[in-house]
Amino acid sequence: MKRNAGIVGLGCYVPEKILTNLELESIVETTDEWIRTRTGILERRIAAKGQSSSDLASQAAREALKNAGLGASDLDLIIVATISGDMLFPSTACLVQTKIGATCPAFDLAAACSGFPYALAMAGGLVLAGQYKKILIIGSEVLSGFIDWQDRSTCVLFGDGAGAAVVSDVGPDKGILSTYLAADGRYADLLKIPAGGSAMPPSLESVQQKLHTLKMNGSEVFKLAVRNMADAVLKAIALAGISLEKIDLLIPHQANLRIIQAVAERTHVPLSKVFINLDKYGNMSSASTIVALYEAVKSGRIQPGNHIAMVAFGSGLTWASTVMKW
Ligand code: ACO
Repeated sequence: MKRNAGIVGLGCYVPEKILTNLELESIVETTDEWIRTRTGILERRIAAKGQSSSDLASQAAREALKNAGLGASDLDLIIVATISGDMLFPSTACLVQTKIGATCPAFDLAAACSGFPYALAMAGGLVLAGQYKKILIIGSEVLSGFIDWQDRSTCVLFGDGAGAAVVSDVGPDKGILSTYLAADGRYADLLKIPAGGSAMPPSLESVQQKLHTLKMNGSEVFKLAVRNMADAVLKAIALAGISLEKIDLLIPHQANLRIIQAVAERTHVPLSKVFINLDKYGNMSSASTIVALYEAVKSGRIQPGNHIAMVAFGSGLTWASTVMKW
């Protein structure tokens, strides 16, 4: 019998603290009007002092396990997609493993905002290969610690949060129908945290120059995001062997409403079929698409039998898409 890998449980956790556009007006020279009209973001969540990526991830993981009807000891593997892990090492996945009481292998995956669909592709492949049966994948970010809160071109965009999914064998008629992964390191300089790694270990100078914070060429990233996300959506649909009209809901990476609108226009997916929640959370990088999927399911926007396309784009550059039948 043909097997498919798919998602059998979802979880989500966002920190309690809400930072509104109006509050940002008192931090940097910006306006609620600029942020709303240029990005679509109204507010974002900010982790409490001492609340790390593994804390958010563990909360989301516990809910995903509960919704899958599983315990931590049932897990065969944990993959955490993050670019704001607790430390350079050990991996955030190892910290999550202990926090939730699991004992299985665990590793991190760094694909920035494309982290969740990358992790989904890895997990789906390993389930289909028969190597692991139950895999927990998580997208978790506390980017607020890596933002220059005086740089208005970036600090208004990002937020903290985590989403989790359990991937397992779901039988023949549903699950992951296709995955498409891409990367182009020639554009690595467009979006990065320059210091803190081996290329520029942290120093007094690097901190004084704020090189441990996120730097982005927003307009270049914008153009490449639109082109590559639109292309990736169409590629995943073609690989799934279904027509565009079959897609019931498109879940795009939630970075900028104008990017989402442009991707919808290019792919001819009506906006009524596009899930948007960036107004509440801003860009949560690897947590963005999984939190959106969680909310789409919870709110009833996704029903059994629906076809869902998911697409993400981020630093690397990386981009990725998948089509699932729910
Ligand atoms: N408030 C007020 N004015 C601002 C702000 C702000 N918060 N930020 C920038 N401006 C100003 C700029 O200084 C500029 O002023 P100038 O014309 O006097 O120089 C003007 O607004 C226009 O700036 P642009 O950068 O051209 O604005 P743009 O329309 O491109 O929007 C944005 C900027 C929102 C960053 C957009 O380019 C974008 O969303 N880019 C893509 C981000 C993204 O998708 N990232 C992907 C993944 S993230 C990851 O992987 C971690």
